[in-house]
Amino acid sequence: MSQALAPPNPGALRAAMSRFVTGVTVVTYAGDDGPRGATMNSFTSVSTDPPLVLISVARRARCHDQLLDRPFCVNVLGAEQEPLARQFAGAPAAAEPRWVVGARVPRLAHPLGWVECEPWGAYDGGDHTLVLGRVTDLGHRDGDALTYAWSRFGTAVESTDGIEHLI
Ligand SMILES: Cc1cc2nc3c(=O)[nH]c(=O)nc-3n(C[C@H](O)[C@H](O)[C@H](O)COP(=O)(O)O)c2cc1C
Repeated sequence: MSQALAPPNPGALRAAMSRFVTGVTVVTYAGDDGPRGATMNSFTSVSTDPPLVLISVARRARCHDQLLDRPFCVNVLGAEQEPLARQFAGAPAAAEPRWVVGARVPRLAHPLGWVECEPWGAYDGGDHTLVLGRVTDLGHRDGDALTYAWSRFGTAVESTDGIEHLI
C-alpha cells in the first residue's frame, strides 16, 4: 500500500496524468465580440437522464467566466483537425477556423462529434471550475479521432465494433 506523505509536485502529477489517453475537443461559445473557442481534453460524459457532460475550465482562462453563464458546444476533433487543437490552445492560427453558419450556439464545421449544452451547474475544482452542461443538441460523423497522451497528439482509428455491443 502506498501512502501520500506530501502533495505531489505539479510536474509529477502532470506526468502521471499524461498516461491517461483522452480525446481532444474545442469548446466553443459566443464571445462578447464573436465566436470563440478553447481546446479542452477534460471532457467526459456524466449522465444520460438528464443528459449531462462535464468540462474542467482553468480559472485563469479567458473563457472561464463566459462558460459559466452561457450555452456552449463541445466539438470532438477528428484526427485531421490537430491544427484546430493547437490554434484554440493559443498557437498562431494556420487558417481561419470554419464555423457552422446559423448555429444557435457557435460551433466548428465538421467536428467528429458535437454536443451543444446549456449551463447546468458549476463546482469548485481548485484552480479549475467543473462545469456541467445539459445537452440540448448533438451530432456526429464517421472518421478517426484525435487523441492526446504523453503530452502528444495521436490518432485512434475508427472501429465499428465498440464495447457497447458487449454491454
Ligand atoms: C490538449 C490540450 C488540452 C487542454 N485541456 C484543457 C482543459 O481541459 N481545460 C482548460 O481550461 N484548458 C485546457 N487546455 C488549455 C487551453 O486550451 C488554453 O489555455 C487556451 O489558451 C484557453 O483559451 P482562452 O484563454 O482563450 O479561453 C488544453 C490545452 C491542450 C493543448
